[in-house]
Amino acid sequence: MRAQTDFDVKDLSFAAKGVLRIEWAAREMPVIRLIRERFAKEKPLEGVRISACLHVTSETANLALALRDGGAQVAVCASNPLSTQDEVAAALVAEYDIPVFAIREEDTDTYYGHIRSTLAHRPQITLDDGADLVATIHREQRDLIPNIIGGTEETTTGVIRLRSMAAGGALAYPIIAVNEAMTKHFFDNRYGTGQSTIDGITRATNILWAGKTVVVCGYGWCGRGVALRARGLGAQVIVTEIDPVRALEAVMDGYRVMPLIEASQVGDLFITVTGNANVVDRHHMDVMKDGAILANSGHFNVELNLEGLADMAEARRIVRPEVEEFTLGDGRKIHVLAGGRLVNLAAAEGHPASVMDMSFANQALSVEHLITRPERLPVDVYTVPTDIDNEVANLKLASMGISIDTLTDEQKKYLASWESGTD
Ligand code: ADE
Repeated sequence: MRAQTDFDVKDLSFAAKGVLRIEWAAREMPVIRLIRERFAKEKPLEGVRISACLHVTSETANLALALRDGGAQVAVCASNPLSTQDEVAAALVAEYDIPVFAIREEDTDTYYGHIRSTLAHRPQITLDDGADLVATIHREQRDLIPNIIGGTEETTTGVIRLRSMAAGGALAYPIIAVNEAMTKHFFDNRYGTGQSTIDGITRATNILWAGKTVVVCGYGWCGRGVALRARGLGAQVIVTEIDPVRALEAVMDGYRVMPLIEASQVGDLFITVTGNANVVDRHHMDVMKDGAILANSGHFNVELNLEGLADMAEARRIVRPEVEEFTLGDGRKIHVLAGGRLVNLAAAEGHPASVMDMSFANQALSVEHLITRPERLPVDVYTVPTDIDNEVANLKLASMGISIDTLTDEQKKYLASWESGTD
């Protein structure tokens, strides 16, 4: 064991368990494994300093190892105070010599302190999940910016933040929006969030989904996944939306769609996946049934108005790990899971490794793209280049033993011509 001296994790003695978790995840991450093997040979990231603000999980560890084997010096902090797997953090430090600054249940000051410690490595590349790292650099550590070649952003919420920085002229270095790769959001947001949200709620509550009325707030890719999986378990799913096209899609996908105030009166379980604040607000909680459960799977813990709920409550207590019961003046009880933080990471293990394989393959290849380009990208938020997206899909299919057809020359010619129409 060659321990880093520069780190902050819960307990290095957890490292052996962390190694087992990291190796278990690696079994389901064949694309990252291939990239790691190539990186180890070609060393495309030789000497590059990378600061990564990601959920510190066994899947993230496999990404960090691929980047390290590519020659990078990687430092890692958490992108959420509740998502760190302390065993994994310990293993990264003690067994793989990667500095980590993350402790599950760290308070907000420690969370930002850890971001600053990661920035002390003076990154040339940043990896972010939610844009707290990028925001901290722009707010407090602008001296780092001239040396930063670029960054990547993992999640919808972070991309929205960064695009608003770019639109306001505040963004000072280029970012690749990994979330926008098809091989990211189609799979991670839909099947990853879908499954892991159900997993987190089930682990926290042990509820039977069959027969429950489940209200899914937001029908983006995450909401689509959550609704699909809840229905698969026998729940009656209601979708709430503010976007008319998405609402229409939800109707035609077979869900009931209505305003949240109406759904509030009939729902047993409410799951927010909107990326917006106070989606479930006091007037909704005012009319909820006794025993209603509230969970959030959006990036930040702002979607449930928990301050409002605390005001409305006469008593509160923890009734199970990750379940807090609020008793209201009229005797109704409302239960909040994981303090309103990402329930899939706080009460379960986040997305399964097989889906993070693709998300993190996009991360690794986007970092390589930023480093190996002949000149720096101008400052903006970019989508992942299509050839990277296709490479990730091809590698994933190959790892599953699935081959697909290719266009014949005749078909290519047909697609490229406009002359032939109705025959
Ligand atoms: N985001 C969602 N699930 C994750 C996981 N398992 N690891 C890292 N980031 C995640």
